Amino acid sequence: MMFGVSIVAGLSNFGLFLALGPDVFDDAAFVVFTALAMAQFGFAVAAIVMGIMALRSKQGGVGPLLLGILSMLGAPLGWFGGILAVGLSGLGGAWGRPLRVRGRQLHPNLREGSDWTRGEQPCPDGLDEATRVALAALWLHDAQKEHASVPAFSRVSWMLAAVGAPAELLEGAHRAAMEEIEHTRLCFALAAGYAGHSRTVDAMPDLLCGMDFGDDPLVTLAVESLEDGCLLEDYNADVAAACARACREPATLRVLQIIAEEERSHAHFSWQVLRWVLARDPARVRPAIERALARLDRYPRPTAVSRDKQVLVERADAEAMLAHGRLPDARWAEIWQARLSSTREDVRAMLEAPAVRPREDVRLMQLGGAR
Ligand SMILES: [Fe+2]
Ligand SMILES: [Fe+2]
Repeated sequence: MMFGVSIVAGLSNFGLFLALGPDVFDDAAFVVFTALAMAQFGFAVAAIVMGIMALRSKQGGVGPLLLGILSMLGAPLGWFGGILAVGLSGLGGAWGRPLRVRGRQLHPNLREGSDWTRGEQPCPDGLDEATRVALAALWLHDAQKEHASVPAFSRVSWMLAAVGAPAELLEGAHRAAMEEIEHTRLCFALAAGYAGHSRTVDAMPDLLCGMDFGDDPLVTLAVESLEDGCLLEDYNADVAAACARACREPATLRVLQIIAEEERSHAHFSWQVLRWVLARDPARVRPAIERALARLDRYPRPTAVSRDKQVLVERADAEAMLAHGRLPDARWAEIWQARLSSTREDVRAMLEAPAVRPREDVRLMQLGGAR
């Protein structure tokens, strides 16, 4: 009986995960998912206890005992697998800086609406239905990630103010946030052109739970600037530029060119922050940068397509995808390796350069010595 209830809880959890899919797995779903996994675990433990009691009274019980153990082990494994799938589902490439809230990457869910759609729309003529659907889904994914970059840069600005950074760095953070707002609008406009209707972002109440800035904001700024800025945003710029070279659709091409140029400037901004925090307190920051550098190749590579969109892209016409600026994942992987080595080299060069005082460093950056 207990074993049966445990199995029903496990199957319901699996059904919930399949029904929602990782992309709409919000906080409420997470609570239900966790509660069902705990129920599965609890009833499995009860089945084990009853099995042991039945064995002791020599009334059988081996079967329920073994099945109870299996179900008990399956509960945490299923829970962990589900959470991992949710985490991995968002790793598809995009052109923004990730938004980190309490150790989790967040981006807004989507709903019907057109308030974030602004910009030129592509011409979908000549595309088959599957390709149009895939292109719309990929640009919506990009719009979600671009939108998340807006509060991500606000968070950077918050930390910079907290550690007394100069006006030029706060200006850079706010300029980047403004550009991410425009990228979001442009991505929604491209998605609307391919889909034939507009979507928009849902509210993000998780942002009201407060931010986590780590134990030492200087170290957080250093590590995140290196990983999410110097490495990732330079890579975003590389990929956008390569996509633009392949793109034959004029509206999409213009957006890719804007994104390539501005993501590059966001990477430059991160280099400025990195140099400033290092100069500000080398004893605290240098070891953190060295540790981050040593594990840089473990940073998860953004893929061309997130797992939940793979089926859509497989059904699409590969040549048309390329002509509309979507490169295959193999190309993304090559670009990643090149960017990884050049970021490593640049960080090493920065660590070997003679130390400068923080104010001098910002002045040098304004004169063009960003790296
Ligand atoms: Fe962006
Ligand atoms: Fe960016």
